Amino acid sequence: MADPPLAALVEENGRVHIIALTDESLKIKGIGVFNPYATLNGVEDGQEVQIGSKVFTRLPPRLPELVQGMKRRAQTIGSKDAGVLIARLGIGSGDVVLEAGLGSGGQSMHLARVLGSSGHLITVEPREEHSDVGLENLMTLSKAIEAFPQHSHVHGRIESCVEEIQSISEQVDAILLDLPEHPVAIRSVAPLLTIGGRLSCYCPVSSQLEQAWAACEEVGLEIEWAGEVIEREWGKASKGGVRPVNGPFGHTAFLLIAQRKA
Ligand SMILES: C[S@@+](CC[C@H](N)C(=O)[O-])C[C@H]1O[C@@H](n2cnc3c(N)ncnc32)[C@H](O)[C@@H]1O
Repeated sequence: MADPPLAALVEENGRVHIIALTDESLKIKGIGVFNPYATLNGVEDGQEVQIGSKVFTRLPPRLPELVQGMKRRAQTIGSKDAGVLIARLGIGSGDVVLEAGLGSGGQSMHLARVLGSSGHLITVEPREEHSDVGLENLMTLSKAIEAFPQHSHVHGRIESCVEEIQSISEQVDAILLDLPEHPVAIRSVAPLLTIGGRLSCYCPVSSQLEQAWAACEEVGLEIEWAGEVIEREWGKASKGGVRPVNGPFGHTAFLLIAQRKA
């Protein structure tokens, strides 16, 4: 039987719920008990619907809605860094991309969206309680977009799974690492990179950046760029005009991009 279609329900405060239009009464966290199909069947995209005491706008589940409504366990990479990593690694349709750890799948969802049906995403994750969440988020995305890539998932630590990864693909066009110990991962998978391919490391603290930098140089990768992406949000001022909002000016991680040139 075909999967029920998905809808994004957006609360007035911006919170997003991704709902499968199942024809049965369900308890949905943050909304309550209701029958999604019976409640939403006649509601068009862009229309409002009241469920219990809350008013929602129904929207199609595009990548931003899916990311806002995704399940979370491990800390995830948000669109600020995910988009820059994709652009700097030059990832696009038809590429084979290796990513570890999968975690909650935040970066993987952005990757899957740009890889399209001709791409191949290989994810690696040792902790099942994390991959359960990450794989569920990828499954939801696969139901929401037309062109989902081939996806292979490997259970384990990346440095212990090199043969299994190679049995899936001898070479990869890009590698994204977001894990605590970059050097051992870099040493084990850098040889899988195609010439011209790039590897990125997502490093919350500067000591990780230094260690990843040294490991890349040790295995013959050329450092192309290191730094952080600083985002400052603007909003409407109470007395008119727009200005930077008063919220925090937060740090996520240092990014390192290295290329295999020979
Ligand atoms: C911060 S999370 C990754 C989040 C993910 N990038 C996202 O955007 O949702 C780091 C993950 O790396 C996994 N990990 C730790 N060591 C690893 C290793 N040696 N190989 C592969 N994954 C590893 C952890 O279990 C954890 O789930």
